[in-house]
Parts: sequence; structure tokens; C-alpha cells
Amino acid sequence: MKILVINGPNLNMLGTRDKTHYGRLTLEEINEMLLNKAKELEAELVFFQSNHEGEIIDFIQDQSTGAHGILINAGALTHYGYSLRDSLIDARLPIVEVHLSDVNTREEFRKISVMSDIAVDSISGLKEKSYLVGLEALASHIRSLLTPRKNSIKIF
Ligand code: DQA
Repeated sequence: MKILVINGPNLNMLGTRDKTHYGRLTLEEINEMLLNKAKELEAELVFFQSNHEGEIIDFIQDQSTGAHGILINAGALTHYGYSLRDSLIDARLPIVEVHLSDVNTREEFRKISVMSDIAVDSISGLKEKSYLVGLEALASHIRSLLTPRKNSIKIF
């Protein structure tokens, strides 16, 4: 199972950003944590971070063939990134949206996500644990799609 792990603008600065919202870990430390979890889940992760919406779209277009799902923290693009949303739709892969902070209890503009309605799950407010919970949810969703259903109709 191959999962694309995408981080948007400013997430390369984790570790120096407001710790009350985003926690203490750097993005490298979060990725390390995800790699450990991925071993348990028998998943392969491909990481990408960019501060530029177009570069994220290029990555999704290049990498979605052969991938099984996308774990994404789009940063502020979450709230207005319609081109990014379109590329996620075009990828035709299950998506889980994650946020370190609790976007629903902050400023009004953060309560809007242009990707939550196309995501199979949205996890926020657990700091770095949002990524772990998100990865588990995505892996189990992908597994359910890959595993043939027991009570499928038999044709005699
Ligand atoms: C964020 C929340 C966004 O509103 C913000 O712009 C970010 C990070 C989060 O992880 O909590 O950069 O996505």
C-alpha cells in the first residue's frame, strides 16, 4: 500500500511555529514518527512539502498513479485552495485531511475547508497525533477497498 504524505505552506517551519497550536515537533520528526507507524501498517510512504500550490499539484499529478491514498495537511490552502482541491478530485484516491491545531475553534476563516467534503476523514486538534490517527484511518480505509468482501454475491 503506497500513501502520499503531503504538507502545504509553512509546515516546513514546524518546531519554530506557535507551539500552542502546532506542538513542538519539526516536520522531519513527524515524518519519522509516521515511518514507524507505516512499518506496523505495512505501508510505503512518499513525503512531499511545498510552500507553492502549483508544486503540490504537480506532485499529485506525477505521483497519484500507483498510489493508494493521500494524507494531506494543506496548511492555509485548506481554506481556499480550489486548484489543489481539483487536483485531489482528479487523483481519484481516498484522501484523509489532517491538522495539528483545532481549526474549528480558531478564527472563522479556518473553519472552512475546501477539501473536507472530498476526504474520507478529517482529523484536527491532536497536534502531531493528528497525522498518526489520520494515517491509521487512511490505511484501514484503503485495506477495506483492497480486501474482497466476504458476503459478495456468488453466481452459480
Ligand atoms: C494547519 C491549520 C491551518 O489553518 C494553518 O494555516 C496551518 C496549519 C494545522 O495543521 O493546524 O498552516 O493546517
